Amino acid sequence: MSSPATHVTGIDIELIRAQFPSLATTDDGRPRLYFDNPAGTQVPRIVAERMADCLLHRSANIGGYFETSRLAGEVADDARSAMMDFLNAPSPDEIIFGQNMTSLTFHLARSIGRFLEPGDEVVVSRMDHDANVEPWKLMARDFDLKVRYLPFDTETFEFDLADLDALLNDRTRLVCVGGASNLTGTINDVKAICRRARDAGAWSFIDAVQSAPHIVSDVQEFGCDFFVSSAYKFFGPHQGILWGRRESLEQLQPYKLRPAPDELPWSFETGTQSHEGMAGTAAAVDYFAWVGETAAGCCGSRRDKVSSALEVLFDYERTLAERLVNGLLAIPGVRVLGITEPAAMHRRVPTVSFTHATVAPADIARQLAEHNIFAWSGHNYALEVARALDIEKSGGAVRIGPVHYNTIDEIDTVLDVLQTIVD
Ligand SMILES: Cc1ncc(COP(=O)(O)O)c(C=O)c1O
Repeated sequence: MSSPATHVTGIDIELIRAQFPSLATTDDGRPRLYFDNPAGTQVPRIVAERMADCLLHRSANIGGYFETSRLAGEVADDARSAMMDFLNAPSPDEIIFGQNMTSLTFHLARSIGRFLEPGDEVVVSRMDHDANVEPWKLMARDFDLKVRYLPFDTETFEFDLADLDALLNDRTRLVCVGGASNLTGTINDVKAICRRARDAGAWSFIDAVQSAPHIVSDVQEFGCDFFVSSAYKFFGPHQGILWGRRESLEQLQPYKLRPAPDELPWSFETGTQSHEGMAGTAAAVDYFAWVGETAAGCCGSRRDKVSSALEVLFDYERTLAERLVNGLLAIPGVRVLGITEPAAMHRRVPTVSFTHATVAPADIARQLAEHNIFAWSGHNYALEVARALDIEKSGGAVRIGPVHYNTIDEIDTVLDVLQTIVD
């Protein structure tokens, strides 16, 4: 394989990597190759430092007259304003923190379910993680609603929006799809999907857990009603963030305790939040802003810097994805479960799943781990996807998920090791 390219369009990968202490960790002298990023990313130093500062100097409940309480309040305000910038939300009051995407989705589903009428319909997709399927199925069971399934094309790995048109009708109240698939990597045309939902008189719920680390999130541009992400997938701590359009949230009655505030966003936040998580989430947004300044030369608002960062990083990630996909296609017996055409790389995140004709996914992942290459195998909770692709019973797929701190050199190492595993 040819020599590694570490500088691409202004990105100094070594400078980026230096922000992440865990990337320098070795085990018995062997470097770690982190390709488990779709399951959870590493964190830059600034995230850990802000979390430590919060725990060490700002530990209190919010709303008191004393200094630590005021400082904890500052953390929450900063985090809301950071996420507002990250998502281009119109107001910090629409940013709701929670334990993770799954908990927030179950929480919201309970409120939406009691708002709907028996016989109303919800569209979920066969391309989604189960966290964007099962909460809605259970809601439908509990409130006597009907679930309709949006399929995807198992050759192109994309939705055909004519299929969505065929599902929408005057009983459709909610359309739930993902920003990007955690198995195939496909990026969905969220804007077009939300427009169709709106035209049908339905709300849209976007699971952006896998798109937010890679592409610009813009809830106003997308035109969605609800948008949920997880900071630990975008270089932050374990925390979920739900954005809801004010007019939509205000129609719902959240499940809440009596003394908890009735106003947004607190009415939807259950119990005491992880303030250290909020500090870390805000720091992850600031990390992107730093990348925007240093790698993209951007000097506008924090939102501008974050957007520039994501754009320049995504360009770089595409070079990684292309190298990985082409390398996999060159290995006999490998089937890549996602978009492979070089001209279509912008329609996928760099998460690449594949199977091999004779070696089981778990065996490949185990042997990769023996080389200190971290990767997942299985269905990765994308149950409907695994069933649609008929890989559930054969152990799912191997998933190699680079992000912007990975290098071409690392991709080449994975490909070399894979070749020896399947030989
Ligand atoms: C697309 C997608 N949605 C939802 C989730 C669940 O996220 P959380 O762990 O924050 O509940 C995941 C986790 O991998 C995911 O990949």
